[in-house]
Amino acid sequence: MTPAARMAAAIGVLDEILTGSPAEQALLRWSRTSRFAGSGDRAALRDLVFGALRRRDSYAALGGALTGRGLMIGHARAESLPMARLFSGEGHAPAALTEAEAAHVPTDLPDDLPDWLRPDWSAALGSRAAEVAAAMTLRAPVWLRVNLARTDPAGAMASLAAEGVETQRSDLLPSALRVTANERAVARSKAYRAGLVELQDLSPQLACAELPLVPRISVLDYCAGGGGKTLAIGARQPDARLTAHDAFPARMADLPARAARAGLRVAVTDKAKGSFDLVVADVPCSGSGTWRRTPDAKWRLDRPRLDGLVATQAEILDEVVPSVAPGGCLAYMTCSVLSAENGDQVASFLARQPAFRLAGDQLWTPLTGGDGFYLAMLRRG
Ligand SMILES: C[S@@+](CC[C@H](N)C(=O)[O-])C[C@H]1O[C@@H](n2cnc3c(N)ncnc32)[C@H](O)[C@@H]1O
Repeated sequence: MTPAARMAAAIGVLDEILTGSPAEQALLRWSRTSRFAGSGDRAALRDLVFGALRRRDSYAALGGALTGRGLMIGHARAESLPMARLFSGEGHAPAALTEAEAAHVPTDLPDDLPDWLRPDWSAALGSRAAEVAAAMTLRAPVWLRVNLARTDPAGAMASLAAEGVETQRSDLLPSALRVTANERAVARSKAYRAGLVELQDLSPQLACAELPLVPRISVLDYCAGGGGKTLAIGARQPDARLTAHDAFPARMADLPARAARAGLRVAVTDKAKGSFDLVVADVPCSGSGTWRRTPDAKWRLDRPRLDGLVATQAEILDEVVPSVAPGGCLAYMTCSVLSAENGDQVASFLARQPAFRLAGDQLWTPLTGGDGFYLAMLRRG
């Protein structure tokens, strides 16, 4: 496909997303009905669509309309692309610019945050609010976690490099590798398939590195999902006794295979019994810290949904209390930067549960390289 044809395809997919389709579904539908497209076309289309969603409002302002076409005109203007060549109306290219489109003069560019959320965003991030909002408009890097139970960072880097995947160590955590070239080859690389590395963003890796791990520690990952945190803990403390739980056990279906690949043993359960030295509650959240990766979610979140998530998080926190052994720790985690889901949520929990005290909390943002992520360590007794 020509660059112009890709742009025309992006216009169609974006129009579908703007009427409420989730981005992944709209892209999948396009792939299924566009058999002529190769993997390079699909990847380029995805980049165009996700890039436009990250900067939805500023591209609409540049392009003169909140439509697929407006966003692509905005994109072309933002990137100083050859407008007449892309919007030529020839072959599969989008129609030539109308007089009004060509004459459009953009006013001030917005910050690409939903209007209703701006006060919450500013309250949570203070002087960093604008910088973090701007960082959310950029593509997220791919991060790998070296499985220290299997290899060391140098070994993982060498194995990846042998297959053309270039990586760089994080200054903050040597076992976190940033992929600097050939991202798309990671999943089929030997290092990945043999469990030497896992795909995991930097911030959750930093959060897991903060957990108080000791030999033979018993750990319950209460909202385990695919098991990203369970495996990260196991890699740091291979003799940890790991139990994974989720209210929707089907979400843990791949965990036994992932654990085996990583050389770890994990008990998977749908009923958490007994008490544990460490309970991890990586709760469902708005995902406001990961909007570089799921930019359509930024525009779908609204106040009722956020309030619903905050209520669910509080229920989960209360639910896990009996599973935390006296003297044990509850690690509360979200991939959100919003106070309602982080500090305020923890303050309400502590007011309800006087047996716990805050041992420390931390908020990571894209300004340190990874996604937005929050950890609060709550010690019992
Ligand atoms: C943020 S995701 C967890 C991601 C996972 N820890 C990882 O690292 O891959 C939240 C998980 O919480 C689960 N969940 C939702 N409500 C729950 C509840 N009441 N109790 C336990 N788990 C719940 C969801 O099924 C989902 O898998």
